[in-house]
Amino acid sequence: MLPGDRSLSWDDGAVVAVDQCALPGAYRLLRLSTVDEVIAAIRRLAIRGAPAIGVAGALAVALSAAAHRVGGSGVDGRCDEVAVRADARRIAAARPTAVNLGWAVERAVSKLAFGPDAVLREALAMVVEDEHVNRAVASRAADLVRRVTKRRPLRLLTHCNTGRLATVAWGTALGTIRTLAEAGQVEEVLFGETRPLLQGARLTAWELAEAGIPHRMCVDSAGPTAIATGLVDCVLVGADRVCLNGDVANKIGTYPLALAANRAGVPFVVVSPESTVDRALASGAGIEIEHRDPAEVTALAGAPITPPGTGAYNPAFDVVPADLVTAVVTENGVHRNEIRREAAS
Ligand code: MRU
Repeated sequence: MLPGDRSLSWDDGAVVAVDQCALPGAYRLLRLSTVDEVIAAIRRLAIRGAPAIGVAGALAVALSAAAHRVGGSGVDGRCDEVAVRADARRIAAARPTAVNLGWAVERAVSKLAFGPDAVLREALAMVVEDEHVNRAVASRAADLVRRVTKRRPLRLLTHCNTGRLATVAWGTALGTIRTLAEAGQVEEVLFGETRPLLQGARLTAWELAEAGIPHRMCVDSAGPTAIATGLVDCVLVGADRVCLNGDVANKIGTYPLALAANRAGVPFVVVSPESTVDRALASGAGIEIEHRDPAEVTALAGAPITPPGTGAYNPAFDVVPADLVTAVVTENGVHRNEIRREAAS
């Protein structure tokens, strides 16, 4: 039901997506035909990863526009714009940190005046674009990695999941790893477990195995040590929001990797589409960080691991200051430190 290697698509009035909560135990497809179903899937991380939630959000606006279609004799008809805009606000608020969600929802909403079919056409264009953008950014980032590293084949470290599951197809940082591996340039990929929801252990491991790329899981707290002890030639991560000054928000646990990489002189490269760059935000201080339910960390596989009543600090993301980032690579160029200083190379 999903064309090619896509993880997210549209099929006859419904959003179809790989259920990322079910992996690696089961490969299941979700069929979501209401706005509320898409919002719930994004909130429980069945659809997750900045580009994927953006595209799913745009498709959810198309679902809303179709549900609120009114009379109209024009080719595309019209929709109840007030109702769709109210849905769009709820969709954009499903998760706060990834800028892609608000960006994509806004892009779909911008077609509202042209009717529900125009909204759907825009959302479908974003499905196709996402794959092209990922392949372009991955190829550019792979070139950069080749330039900033000496050892061959490469030992790479990544965090969270930035692959085909986190996007429509191919992936960003993991897409870069796929591109390098296709060229026979990858010796091993270390990836963090990504506690507490285990996007690395469950999803990145699954994708690397599917692609036949040699890999080993790295205990989350051991990532900085792997870098410090010379096991890593380059760190490659994605992003949920990149600010104008080059600060980067990404999955919790990214910041200690950046600190360790900086100290060890190992390149720390962020790979993300332009849609992840928030040109309205001066610095990382303004990024809203999602904090998740303490219950996600006070129990393991349903069994409590803390005494009753123990609270938890459970941010889903952290912010890496620009000075720790070697480069942010997008489909349009290689940005070093400040996004404004676009030093395309
Ligand atoms: O909470 P998640 O799993 O949605 O967090 C995802 C990440 O932090 C990814 O690194 C980021 O969205 C980039 S995905 C290409």
